[in-house]
Amino acid sequence: MQGFQDLCIHSSPAWEKGLGDVDAQRLRAEWETVTLKWDAPHLWMRRFALIVLLSVSFLIEMAISLSLTRHRQLTAPLQIGSMTVHSRVLQSPLSGVTDRVFRRLVRRYAPESMLYSEMVKAREIQHLQRLSRLMDVDADETPISIQLFDCRPDFMAAAARQAVAQGADTIDINMGCPVNKVTRKGGGSSLLRQPEVAVEIVRTVVQAVEIPVTVKTRLGWDETDINILDFARRLEDAGAQMLTLHGRTRAQGYQGEACWEWIARVKAVLSIPVIANGDITSVAAAARCLQMTGADGVMCARGTLGYPFLVGEIDQFLKTGRVPVAPDLATRLACAQDHLRGLWEYKGQRGIYQARKHMTWYVRGFPGAGEWRDRLARLESVEAGCRLLDEAIAHYQTLAPTASLV
Ligand SMILES: Cc1cc2nc3c(=O)[nH]c(=O)nc-3n(C[C@H](O)[C@H](O)[C@H](O)COP(=O)(O)O)c2cc1C
Repeated sequence: MQGFQDLCIHSSPAWEKGLGDVDAQRLRAEWETVTLKWDAPHLWMRRFALIVLLSVSFLIEMAISLSLTRHRQLTAPLQIGSMTVHSRVLQSPLSGVTDRVFRRLVRRYAPESMLYSEMVKAREIQHLQRLSRLMDVDADETPISIQLFDCRPDFMAAAARQAVAQGADTIDINMGCPVNKVTRKGGGSSLLRQPEVAVEIVRTVVQAVEIPVTVKTRLGWDETDINILDFARRLEDAGAQMLTLHGRTRAQGYQGEACWEWIARVKAVLSIPVIANGDITSVAAAARCLQMTGADGVMCARGTLGYPFLVGEIDQFLKTGRVPVAPDLATRLACAQDHLRGLWEYKGQRGIYQARKHMTWYVRGFPGAGEWRDRLARLESVEAGCRLLDEAIAHYQTLAPTASLV
């Protein structure tokens, strides 16, 4: 019986017929080379490598995917009191980062996700008798939450009313900020040690506004004082409509791994939605966290610095079950350019100074990032910044036109 190789070598292709002897011999020789190459050992190696690669990527997808039941739960909208949100992925409030310009970029890739303002100090609004610019919300920006902090319930209620007038869809109360300046005055995570005040704040704000009131907090003050189970139940009883839990204590700040096990425990005892926060830096991390905690959604924070694509990527995964292809380096730098222009238009020269940190985050992890980082960290104008980013785009395109890192 003839094998495939024999067939290829010995049967004469149709186009060979009718050629002169020399041409026919040359073509026959070429044909044989081609057909022999098909079976060459290095090609078999390549095919084997391809099969291994496909199997590995299939296994990775399997590892990332959620159980069918969890996936079905997570494709349903998120209900926050009277508000329906068509996404289970939230962009965290980040002081000095999540202004209108940044939110517009996140929204571009995650149009249905809940985004948050930077935290706003309620007392300041009252004392200065002026609206904080931190409450600026685009006219068509939704769903959007304005986050407030303070320890005085009456200040918080008044600021919440102003936030509603500004266009907030929900009010979020910060009970997690670890910064001394905030905790010394009784705000942020220090409320974990004054549960009665925390409860009073929630009650007063719930009475003051008709939109849902939510809380973002931590596990406890430190590892010897983890009181989140009792604290969370009290907030729910006081009228909070959703709890976002950052899986670290106040003492940890932003160090160490977030403890998702505690989030699972809290989820098990509350009826309101629980959102998991801490170390959600990729689609895979989000899937693992959702599977482990049973949480109703995830909130991304530091993973979005210089990468406003993350919320949209996780959202897309939860909605379709597919892991989206990460943007290539040139796309990421083009996004940095939009960010820079936006900050310039919105804040002028102050925006350029603020853009410096964002720009350095955008190139984090790029090959040879150091040189670009140094130059981006010294930006003085929007024109110079855009020129520099054009240069970087051209550089990375020649290096590897479609290279991506995530
Ligand atoms: C620069 C920066 C600013 C932050 N600002 C706020 C804020 O205004 N309000 C808030 O509730 N949390 C704030 N956080 C905390 C994050 O929202 C989030 O809870 C924390 O970073 C944990 O998530 P991660 O491990 O994914 O970063 C901030 C964190 C960082 C790094």
